[in-house]
Amino acid sequence: MPRVAVLLSGRGSNFVALAEAVSAGRLPGEIALVLSNVADAPGLAHARRLGLETVAVPHAPLSRDDHEAAVLAALRRARIDWICLAGYMRLLSGGFVAAFPQRILNIHPSLLPSFPGLHPQRQALAAGVRISGCTVHLVDSGLDSGPIVWQRAVPVLDSDDEESLAARILAQEHVAYAEALGALLTRRWLLEGRRVRFLDAPEGG
Ligand code: GRF
Repeated sequence: MPRVAVLLSGRGSNFVALAEAVSAGRLPGEIALVLSNVADAPGLAHARRLGLETVAVPHAPLSRDDHEAAVLAALRRARIDWICLAGYMRLLSGGFVAAFPQRILNIHPSLLPSFPGLHPQRQALAAGVRISGCTVHLVDSGLDSGPIVWQRAVPVLDSDDEESLAARILAQEHVAYAEALGALLTRRWLLEGRRVRFLDAPEGG
């Protein structure tokens, strides 16, 4: 079973969705570590309650390089194969990304490449798009800029505000993250330039 680490900084609802997918047998991997740069992140507490291996690596007072080295050391100790960023509020350096080539995923609440960065739901409303959604992508050292793996669309309603749109997108994130990781773990795929191409038909399809 591939050993997956989830990195988070906050509430951790995407982590919980991944953990549920594993428990339900929908994801052929094991959450071998939940790591946070925020010692009192609710997601970390939840992981402890689930009996998972957790570690806090606070970023202060470390330099960015030293913090990344400490995170990498924890990942190596846990013999991690795949990393899922789930609300992890730190940019990864090129060196970190190179330590896990094509094995780091992130989830973002917009249809990338539209609306990277902070407040993507606010950006979507301000731009007047009728469809938004969420994206699971491979991580490079840019901001929400790596190759797209999976997307789920969510309509923007005339009645939406940032909060209501974010809530409907979040529900789709919880489905999309397990789908994306499951596809990468079970299907044949390759990276062609910036394009992730699955070479086989999906199971049952
Ligand atoms: C999610 O909206 C995710 O897309 C973004 O940060 C948020 C994290 O939420 N990267 P949670 O901590 O998983 O509940």
